Order: sequence, then C-alpha cells, then structure tokens
Amino acid sequence: MLARCFPGLARPWLNGLAVHRAQALGALERATGSPGLVSLHPRRDFSYTHGLQGASGDPGSAHRVTINFINRDGEKFSAAAKEGESLLEVVVNQNLNIDGFGACEGALACSTCHLIFDDHTFQQLGPAMSEELDMLDLAYGLTDTSRLGCQVCVQKWMDGLTVQVPVEASDIRRELEVEKQSKQ
Ligand code: FES
Repeated sequence: MLARCFPGLARPWLNGLAVHRAQALGALERATGSPGLVSLHPRRDFSYTHGLQGASGDPGSAHRVTINFINRDGEKFSAAAKEGESLLEVVVNQNLNIDGFGACEGALACSTCHLIFDDHTFQQLGPAMSEELDMLDLAYGLTDTSRLGCQVCVQKWMDGLTVQVPVEASDIRRELEVEKQSKQ
C-alpha cells in the first residue's frame, strides 16, 4: 500500500494486459488461419501506457519537486521529492526525522502520516478515498485541510509546497490494542 501513487505500480499490470492481448490474438490467428489480425490494429489499444512514461517508477525522467515539511516542533525540512512518490515515501526516502510518522507504512491503518495543507493546495489534491477519510476521523488535530501523507502523491505543480505535521499524532492501532486489553 506504500505507493498509492499508482502509475509505477500499474505499469507491470498494464504490460501484463498487453501480453495477454497479444497471446489471445495469436491464438485467434492460429485458430482462424488468418494471419495479420494483430497488425490490423497495431498497438493502438495500448497507447495509453505511453502516458505513464515519466511517472513513478521511471526515476530517470521523473520531475524533481521540493516539498517543505514543518515538523511538530516548528523545525522546517526541505526534501527533494520525485513526481509520483507519496508524501510518506518522501519522508522515508529522505530520512526526515518526523517522530512516529508512517507507522503502518502506508497500509491505511494508523493515521500517523497526518499532514495539514494550506487551503489552496488542499482544493487541488482531489478527493480522498473513503478508507482515508475513515482513518482521518481518528487522527489527532484534524483540520478541514487534513490528508494522509501516504495517500497524497507528489505532482509537478507541488514544487515549493509546505505542509504542516500536526503537533500530536496517534497510532490508532496502539490505541485499539490498549482498549482491547483494558476490556479483558
Ligand atoms: Fe499509516 Fe498512512 S502511514 S495511515
């Protein structure tokens, strides 16, 4: 779940589809004795895979983007991020010292990757999935512009963006465990 920023992960899957299509057409040609079926539509169906070039998983051509994090104590970090990485991946890959951040490694189970955005940026992020909203409900210090860092992907337009790490964080898994034990 680390990389919800799917293009890099989707590529093998899309390539798999291309292989299956070629195999199916090959079998059809053999069965019908009509060679050349494949060349009737030369790779047109797969042109959308070209749109994924330069996205996550293609580090050679990924755009570099600077993301600034304001830590719980007010300290500011600047990180060089790659387009397509999640903000959690930026924190992990750049070894940013944010206490307790990303405890579930992007499995949408902890809410420790809670980040607060400015209004304008928040509007541009697009809607959160219901699973993210459920987890955000459990986050400490929730605001109207809160999102989970493991679910927000770095994009080119984010260059220079500053995000706030909330003062408090909770690993909801730990709290549920404590609650469970207290009932026993
Ligand atoms: Fe746990 Fe994002 S890292 S919910």
